[in-house]
Amino acid sequence: MYLTAILSSQHRKALFSCGKALLDGYLHHQAKQDIKRKLSVCFVLPAQDASVVRGYYTLSNGSIPLSLVPATIRRKLPESYTAIPITLLGRLAVGQQFQGQGIGKLLLIDALRRCFELSKSMGSFAVVVDPLDKDAENFYAAFGFEKLPDSGKMFIPMQTVKQLFD
Ligand SMILES: CC(C)(COP(=O)(O)OP(=O)(O)OC[C@H]1O[C@@H](n2cnc3c(N)ncnc32)[C@H](O)[C@@H]1OP(=O)(O)O)[C@@H](O)C(=O)NCCC(=O)NCCS
Repeated sequence: MYLTAILSSQHRKALFSCGKALLDGYLHHQAKQDIKRKLSVCFVLPAQDASVVRGYYTLSNGSIPLSLVPATIRRKLPESYTAIPITLLGRLAVGQQFQGQGIGKLLLIDALRRCFELSKSMGSFAVVVDPLDKDAENFYAAFGFEKLPDSGKMFIPMQTVKQLFD
């Protein structure tokens, strides 16, 4: 069902380069520690040579203040929930030599499928992303993510994600 696997020692992460130092450095130096500390899980898409990472993304639990939720959606939520549970797709990146071949889209669908499956056993109202720059924002907007007002973040409601997989 999933094309990705959890980052492990079989993956030669030091070879990965997507062109953005922050995202490369995260995979090289921090992702494994974050998994160990249960802060986030890093999923990688292997190439034909399974030690080569074509791309990766990270998932973790999170919440956003109710006040950030756009008014049209907020009206349907109980006011007693001051923080709304979400799933954070913290980072997503594709190696430079694999960009422009549909890998980013594949990773995003794989991530959304995991988010949706998780939402069946743990409440999660939306998937939230934190785009690094305008380029990343455009990528997520192309897949229906909307901006959360007064934050650099974007979201897609889990009800919308559900329609992809039900
Ligand atoms: C942004 C990124 C993830 C896209 O991955 P990719 O494999 O090159 O993208 P894909 O080939 O899967 O493209 C899928 C679709 O998204 C569109 N797309 C890709 N990059 C885009 C961008 N920057 N802006 C708008 N649309 C974009 C493509 O046109 C394509 O549309 P189509 O399905 O209608 O043909 C990749 O370029 C990358 O890793 N960049 C550096 C890291 C980064 O910015 N990550 C963003 C999250 S923080």
